[in-house]
Amino acid sequence: MPTKTIADIDVAGKKVLMRVDFNVPLAEGKVTDDRRIQMALPTIKKIVDADAKLILMSHLGRPSGKGFEADLSLKPIAQRLGELLGKEVKLGPPEVVGEQTEAIISAMEGGDVMLLEKVRSDAGETRPDKAKKNPDGKLTPEQEQTNQAFVEAMGRLGEVYVNDAFGTCHRKHASMYGTPKAIQAAGGPAVAGLLVEKEIRYLHEAVDSPAHPFVAILGGAKVSDKIKLISTLLGKVDRILIGGAMAYTLLKAKGATVGKSLVEEDQVEPMKSLLDAAADKILLPCDHVATDDFKEGKPVSVDGSDMGEDLMGMDIGPKSIEQFVSVIASAKTIVWNGPVGVFERPEFAAGTKAIAEAIAKATDSGAVSVIGGGDSAAAVGQMQLDDRMTHVSTGGGASLTYLEGKPMPPIEVLDSN
Ligand code: 3PG
Ligand code: MG
Repeated sequence: MPTKTIADIDVAGKKVLMRVDFNVPLAEGKVTDDRRIQMALPTIKKIVDADAKLILMSHLGRPSGKGFEADLSLKPIAQRLGELLGKEVKLGPPEVVGEQTEAIISAMEGGDVMLLEKVRSDAGETRPDKAKKNPDGKLTPEQEQTNQAFVEAMGRLGEVYVNDAFGTCHRKHASMYGTPKAIQAAGGPAVAGLLVEKEIRYLHEAVDSPAHPFVAILGGAKVSDKIKLISTLLGKVDRILIGGAMAYTLLKAKGATVGKSLVEEDQVEPMKSLLDAAADKILLPCDHVATDDFKEGKPVSVDGSDMGEDLMGMDIGPKSIEQFVSVIASAKTIVWNGPVGVFERPEFAAGTKAIAEAIAKATDSGAVSVIGGGDSAAAVGQMQLDDRMTHVSTGGGASLTYLEGKPMPPIEVLDSN
């Protein structure tokens, strides 16, 4: 990729400030899914092996930004990373940046690793988001100052900046965008980590030079979240298979009776013109597994597109599975974003499982498969099919942003080759 990576620079003995996305699920003070940590290990080990001093930073959840909230401490994450590396990972103080942090860093030796407390404790981290809410789209001078003070304090912590936080690359936050600029202004390099490089390489390959047939499978709740994605993909793919709750808005636009299924009424009209323009490319479910109660209802088979007034669609039916699977089987490039049913409930998981299995099989026979992060990555993980996919992204919103062709400022700001 045109962006410089950690492989292009020498970090021996340097203080390396690296943004990672360790926003991972926790329960009872333990990390319950460490995939995002595991995926950052190659870059972490490369830096440690070069005898550099590694200062890691991440967000966790969406705290108020009004100071430290103990339930969102990165402590369990520092512990898990320490186990994976077989060495101590020191956790920074609650105030994230400042004298105490600087003292810990100056005591570090080559090969040491520390993790700052979660960056969103400081209001300066997410300040850039506030600009969108202001009438002129710019930060007020006061907001600018909070952001700038945090950026400067972070910029002082490292001589080299690395971005390996692919999952956050759609956010123009201080640790993602302002900090690399501060380090560049001080004469230091700002480069991509190996995970970011890998994510971009696969997404780029899928979207910009796909082998055909190129098939996209989209699911999830809302069609309004995916309009930009559908229109971008329509220009590139041979087929788009659509399942999940979003399919019901499209089915309604086609004139089907969708009962109590989740429909975005304001999208029905716009979807009519989209379907008219792309009828030959878009494949919708032709049968369903439905229920009369989202939380507790039993599964009911619906043979055909139309369903009764009291029913809501929960998964694609067996005929749809057969059609979707046969399109996937002949694909050479596959992008999957969003489950096709409520797969958290076993009685409505058959469609999503069949899709995941079909993609794994197609990949075994040479197709390139890229799984968007979030729920589809979770489904693939649950089925232990990760290793059979070409790439499972660590970013939900970030991979969506990339696939939509939207700019990603945290990547654009990095040094280019
Ligand atoms: C995610 O899990 O989606 C990323 O870590 C980004 O988190 P955010 O949506 O809270 O910015
Ligand atoms: Mg998110």
